Amino acid sequence: MSEIIKENTEIKCSDLVGEKSNTEKKIIFSGAQPSGKMTLGNYLGAIKNWTMFQDDYECYYSVVDLHAITVPQDPATLRRQTFELLAQYIACGIDPEKCTLFIQSHVIEHLELMWVLNTMTYMGELNRMTQFKDKAKKSELNLNAGLFTYPVLMAADILLYQADLVPVGEDQRQHIELTRDLANRFNNRFSDTFKIPEGFMPKEAARVMSLQDPSKKMSKSDSDPNAFILLADDSDAIARKIKRSVTDSVGVVRYSDEQAGIKNLIDIYANLSGKSVEEIVSMYEGKGYGVFKQETAEIVVETLRPIREKYLYLLENKDYLKEIYASGAVKAQAKARKTLRKVYKKIGFVARER
Ligand code: TRP
Repeated sequence: MSEIIKENTEIKCSDLVGEKSNTEKKIIFSGAQPSGKMTLGNYLGAIKNWTMFQDDYECYYSVVDLHAITVPQDPATLRRQTFELLAQYIACGIDPEKCTLFIQSHVIEHLELMWVLNTMTYMGELNRMTQFKDKAKKSELNLNAGLFTYPVLMAADILLYQADLVPVGEDQRQHIELTRDLANRFNNRFSDTFKIPEGFMPKEAARVMSLQDPSKKMSKSDSDPNAFILLADDSDAIARKIKRSVTDSVGVVRYSDEQAGIKNLIDIYANLSGKSVEEIVSMYEGKGYGVFKQETAEIVVETLRPIREKYLYLLENKDYLKEIYASGAVKAQAKARKTLRKVYKKIGFVARER
């Protein structure tokens, strides 16, 4: 494994922007699986960051449906969720005029590069992937080869676009390392072909916890729907879930690990309001949890309202969404093909006539 993977935890968005040269924008790639509705956690932990890059970087954001089928999917649900995720990207502020938004399966090059990289990936490397090991433990009945080579497809996603930076969650760190290893391996064996990408995992990206058990991450697959807030939840549901969120018996709004429920709400409040933790704590000095929860709920409701409205509007306008992903695929493919052509040439494949 490469030692050189850089910890990007200290880099701030503004620093990155400062690096940009005017002639050539740096490239960002990221993707999410169409595996159900997005939560407040996905928004604050990922998508909100994606929107911050769009003015200064050349951004490619994909709905990774090829990855989704590594676990069984109901076809109608997969199709619906693909539209929903695309609509949520846009509703959250990702501007299709500025970014390339596309559906992974529409750009065949992902699979072509994956095959090449498969032939350069060691079984041992994939065996070490903790996400694979976790998934394998959970579903022994569905230990398919796709689940095993999932990280290679992810590497292909990233390398095709010559991405400089890949904003992802902490759980993807190992996959980014593999991507870098594969890029270096190819470059060393043939010659410089791939940009070596870096993961972008900002510490300050909110890690939103379950409202019912703040020791766990907020997840839409939680069996208790009160544990998570969906971007598509209506205002009443949001207010109710926050009101019922688990706290403690201390009764003082303080930012401490012993009061994990309150800490989580402060983080959410801080992220959405732009206020610092200290400011919030002092605002609620001498006030109880009731007021604090109510005002936190108001901020969440007001933030999510326009997102939900736009989301519902977009879902009613499928033709618009189709235009977005159709032109996205054309743009993405142009970039991807360029990389793949180089790869095929270096490997020794005979160039296609026409
Ligand atoms: N594996 C990522 C996840 O589950 C999704 C993903 C697929 C991805 N391809 C990617 C993320 C490329 C970043 C870059 O979150």
